[in-house]
Amino acid sequence: MESFKNDTWNAVLYDNNHAFVSKFGKGLVELLAPQPDESILDLGCGTGDLVFQLHQLGVHVTGIDQSENMIAQAQKKYPGLLFEVTDALDLPYQEEFDAVFSNAVLHWIKRPDQVLSCVFDSLKQGGRFVAEFGGKGNVKAITDGIMDQFLEMGMEYDAEDFPWYYPSIGEYSALMESAGFRVVFAQHFDRPTKLDGDDGLSNWVKMFCGGMLEGISKDIRDSIISKVEINLKPVLYQNGAWYADYKRIRVIGIKE
Ligand code: BEZ
Repeated sequence: MESFKNDTWNAVLYDNNHAFVSKFGKGLVELLAPQPDESILDLGCGTGDLVFQLHQLGVHVTGIDQSENMIAQAQKKYPGLLFEVTDALDLPYQEEFDAVFSNAVLHWIKRPDQVLSCVFDSLKQGGRFVAEFGGKGNVKAITDGIMDQFLEMGMEYDAEDFPWYYPSIGEYSALMESAGFRVVFAQHFDRPTKLDGDDGLSNWVKMFCGGMLEGISKDIRDSIISKVEINLKPVLYQNGAWYADYKRIRVIGIKE
C-alpha cells in the first residue's frame, strides 16, 4: 500500500479492520497465475499477506511499499521474506522480474505514466504486469458525500487535492500501450465491498480519507463523517451492513 504523503498508515489497524483488501487480492493472484521459481515483484505489498501467499506457491517474491510502517509490520509478520521500502516512482530494477503484481495501490499514485515506465523497465522481456486498483467512479458516493459537506460548510475543495487517480479502462490501457505494453486483458467492474460493523463506513473514511480531511480539526472531521453516514445510509447501508461502492479495474500487460 502506497502512502499518499507522509507515512500516515496505521499498519495494525489496517490489518485488523481492512482484511478485505488482501482477501480480494487472492482473486488477483489467480489472474497472475504464478509459477514456481518465477521471480515476482509485489508493488505496494502493504503488510505482506500476498507476498506470503506467493512465497507459499514457490515464487521468489520481493515485496515493496513506500510506507515504512507497512513494511515494518510485514517484516514482523513474515520474517525471512524479502521486503523493502521503495518508491514506485523510482524503482531500482532493470529486467529482473517475470511479473510485477500490484493490488489496491495504483490509485494512490497520480503519476501513472512514470509508474508504468518503471514497471516496464523492471520486467524481463516477455514478463507481465498484473494489477488491480480503483477505476473511474470508485467510491464516488463516499467522496461526493464528503465534498457535499465541504460545500455545505462553505469550504473550498480544490480538485487537485483529490488524493486518488481513478482512470477509465480506455485511459489506462492507452497509458500502458504508450509505456510499451501489449494490453491482453482489461476489465472495469463494480465491487460493492462489505465493511465490518456499524462503524464500518466511519472507520473506512478515517483509515483512507486522511488526504481529503487533512488540516481539518478532529471535531469538524467527526461532524463531517457523522453527516456523511446519515446521508449515505439509504444508499450504502443494506441488510444491516455498510457497503463501499468500489469500482475496480484489472489489467494485464505483456512486455514484448
Ligand atoms: C480502493 O481500494 O479502491 C480504495 C482504498 C482506499 C481508498 C480509496 C480507494
